Amino acid sequence: MKKILITTPIYYVNDKPHIGHAYTTLAADVLTRFFREQGKDIFFLTGTDEHGINIARAAKKAGKTPKVFCDNNVKFFKEAWKNLNIKYDYFIRTTDKHHEENVKKFLNKLKEKNAVYEKDYQGLYCAGCEKFLTEKDLVDGLCPDHKTKPEKVAEKNWFFKLNLKTVGELFKKQLKIKPERAKNEVLGLLKQGLDDFSISRQKDRVKWGIELPFDKNQTVYVWVDALLNYITGDDSDNFKKYWKDGYVIHLLAKDILKFHAIYWPAMLKEVGHKVPDEEFIHGFFTINGQKMSKTLGNVIDPNEIVKKFGVDGARYLMLSQFPFGQDGDVKESKFVEKYNADLANGLGNLVARVLTLTAKINLKVLNARPDKDTLNRTKQARDNYTEYMEDFKLFKALEEIWKLIGFCDEYIDKEKPWQLIKNHESRIKNHELEKILNNLLYCISEIAELIVPFLPDTSEKIKKSLSHSRPTGSRFAEGKEGQLKTGQSKVLFPRI
Ligand code: ME8
Ligand code: MG
Repeated sequence: MKKILITTPIYYVNDKPHIGHAYTTLAADVLTRFFREQGKDIFFLTGTDEHGINIARAAKKAGKTPKVFCDNNVKFFKEAWKNLNIKYDYFIRTTDKHHEENVKKFLNKLKEKNAVYEKDYQGLYCAGCEKFLTEKDLVDGLCPDHKTKPEKVAEKNWFFKLNLKTVGELFKKQLKIKPERAKNEVLGLLKQGLDDFSISRQKDRVKWGIELPFDKNQTVYVWVDALLNYITGDDSDNFKKYWKDGYVIHLLAKDILKFHAIYWPAMLKEVGHKVPDEEFIHGFFTINGQKMSKTLGNVIDPNEIVKKFGVDGARYLMLSQFPFGQDGDVKESKFVEKYNADLANGLGNLVARVLTLTAKINLKVLNARPDKDTLNRTKQARDNYTEYMEDFKLFKALEEIWKLIGFCDEYIDKEKPWQLIKNHESRIKNHELEKILNNLLYCISEIAELIVPFLPDTSEKIKKSLSHSRPTGSRFAEGKEGQLKTGQSKVLFPRI
């Protein structure tokens, strides 16, 4: 069976995470759960980026040593991921001993390959991005992402000889960049040409970093250090198999595309290491058109969203804002509207209505064969959903589930089962009612399956209230009957 490795960027720990960081991490969690449901062997890696001048400065400002500062801030990330029910396989910190050693080994290899050289350099540095910017990158003299003025820096650094031809070949042969827009951006960069990039910093300026193994006056450039997390992982032989034999997927946003799509594969290729198979570039959460960012301070705290809307509510709200791959403006006030419409009145209400009716007529056995219409409709939903998920179209996959919910609501409104309950003296009418409820219960059990990656707790709750014994590995579609023990359903999503 083909292994899969899925990664998120490792986030800077200069501040607490916001919903932008939660978005990528949540998407990785949803995809991991989806592929696992499909029986695939997948490893989910995330973590934190802890070196560099920006972190060192933030630590100083907080009156702490960098390590103590990082130890403290890492907790916010781990806590937020826990609150969102995000289950990663390993959380890497770039201050992990095993990572630091691997970084040194890798840099030694670059040196042995003669892929690096020393050069005096001066440029404009954005500490927020941890990168040099060119005049062309600036908007009104400021970094467009951080709205800060870059600093003039003159240093002697080690540089990596960038071979754009080798990188260009990779896009033809192995590395897929998705969506198309991101790929075109990368191809545009290649065409325009890129300079060699520095892989180290002068230690007298950037002390908080891993010492360059072949030059003790230099520390490893934080981006080189960070990218290497993907091959360090948890340092086990098991993990290495995921890189070597597996299908490797990096999730990230477009702010860090160049590092991932060009510099990273170029470095890997240089030492003869396998390069990633796919990079999926999603869009930004923006607020009034501005990228949500720690530096700008226009952030939404994921923990607040969990507090207000519950774990699954928060998971749903974050992923249902706009297509994965596009930007979208978010407003907290709109969250309430969406929560009430889709979760309280949508999914929650449907399940409650159907279970209440079922309990009323004391329906005990769920017939595994719904009518043809229902069967076709659910099959279509599942097929579309699977296609979208395999293509990382999480927003579209959710839409597909909600279309099925809409189908059920329409069916109820059309059949008016409550009227049949009112006058169910004759056996004929009871049969009719049972048929309707059977169809609806079938749909709901399908919905409970489809939401597993997105709303794991809600799925469990629905399955428990349906509580049918489903022989392992088989589905209702295969014509099995199950015992139904529906009772009162708890309110899944209380209205806000
Ligand atoms: O760049 N909308 O870390 P970072 C959507 N340490 N996603 C967002 C977002 C937003 N407004 N803001 C951040 C770094 N993200 C480096 C990465 S990887 C080897 C090193 C997400 O803390 C998105 O995934 O600035 C983005 O690429 C990442 O956080 C940047 O996080
Ligand atoms: Mg950033």
